[in-house]
Amino acid sequence: MVIPKFSEKAQAIVDDYEAHIKAGFNPLPIPIVKADNAKLLDMDGNEYIDFLSFFAVANMGHSHPKIVEAACNAIKDCPLVNTAFINPSYAKLGVKINEILGYSRTICMCSGADATDTATKIARKWGYTKKGIKDGESFILTTSACYHGLTISTHSFASTRRDVFGPYVPNVGSTSPSGVFVEYGNIESLQKAIEADHERISAFMVEPIQGSAGIVDPPKGYLKQAFDLCKKYNILFIADEVQTGLGRAGALLKSFDEDINPDLVCLGKALAGGVAPLSAVIGNSEVMDIIDHGDIGSTMAANPPATAAAVAALEVLIDEDICAQSKEKGEILKKLLLDANCEEIIGVSGSGMLRAVILNPESINDKFNGARLASFCAANGVLVNSAGGGKRVRICPPPTISEEDLRKGVEIFINCVHTLKDVSGPILGVK
Ligand SMILES: Cc1ncc(COP(=O)(O)O)c(C=O)c1O
Repeated sequence: MVIPKFSEKAQAIVDDYEAHIKAGFNPLPIPIVKADNAKLLDMDGNEYIDFLSFFAVANMGHSHPKIVEAACNAIKDCPLVNTAFINPSYAKLGVKINEILGYSRTICMCSGADATDTATKIARKWGYTKKGIKDGESFILTTSACYHGLTISTHSFASTRRDVFGPYVPNVGSTSPSGVFVEYGNIESLQKAIEADHERISAFMVEPIQGSAGIVDPPKGYLKQAFDLCKKYNILFIADEVQTGLGRAGALLKSFDEDINPDLVCLGKALAGGVAPLSAVIGNSEVMDIIDHGDIGSTMAANPPATAAAVAALEVLIDEDICAQSKEKGEILKKLLLDANCEEIIGVSGSGMLRAVILNPESINDKFNGARLASFCAANGVLVNSAGGGKRVRICPPPTISEEDLRKGVEIFINCVHTLKDVSGPILGVK
């Protein structure tokens, strides 16, 4: 094992964290202090190959010098210009997004959940002002097992909600106003819902590949069929590309790969190259120009370090052909995983560098499952993540990873798959 025991200093930090910090995503007790492309270092200098990118963020690699420099210069020059004034790099970002993705209007916020919440507001207003939906009735349709964030509005989209946070935001979710449940990837269920309730539905929001559900691919053609249905019934198609976009799944937008130009696209995660929180809703004038000043905003949204970093990140996206890197290395990754012929692995999902290993249900037990495999891998120097309730393991390295690290990481991962069943007791605190 790479980490038999942490130093006292590192352990003290882990203890402080556990004593004082709440929420988050059940962190492994590894205090990370340095990041460089696809390598992370903990406080004791242990090195990890990053096969997770902090949930698909580091599309341009960690700490890309050009992106870091842009953010640092902005911090030194003028760290904050809020949207009551003009932040020049926000203007540059709008131009860059138009140039690269073909959408002429951009609204930046901070988190991915901010972006999907913002898209909901835009779609609701569009529903009332353009589609003529009656006051209070505008509905945003989602799908089963979707993940669009964890704020009260975005958590309301989910098909399984946690009872303790109710009441949720009404008129959103995967069950249509008249009660038709929309299953992800099932075009018939979407058609039924839209046919029944299209007069009330402003928008359909969907992840082109479901991320948090465990990198779940829809059937081929599903997204185009869904898009065509939306167009037929005058419903906005919102692609939540917070996780799939900007090269992660092998294309600028996964929607483009499916021949779709969504009405609205939500971006986040990699938008500022992983150096600052930044998200966006992008669209064209027909929809976006219904938004007035004061409708949407946040004090720290679109701040100079984040927007300067984003301009640099989008340049890197093009200059270093992150999409091609993602596609090519994603195929190598898939092949290496499948060629290992492990009985515990029955498939590899996703595209580009957004992947998951599907575990064999017959292999899953108290000793062998996604959560224990992820912590065993971490203990052996590779970071991955359990997804889909422990039935899958999410693997999404930075597309800029070297082929040598990619191969080494897969070798360690497969070794962990082979040996985990012989390991008893908690691994890095995971039972
Ligand atoms: C598709 C999708 N939408 C929205 C979000 C929420 O983003 P954030 O965690 O930045 O709020 C996520 C996060 O994983 C996501 O995968």
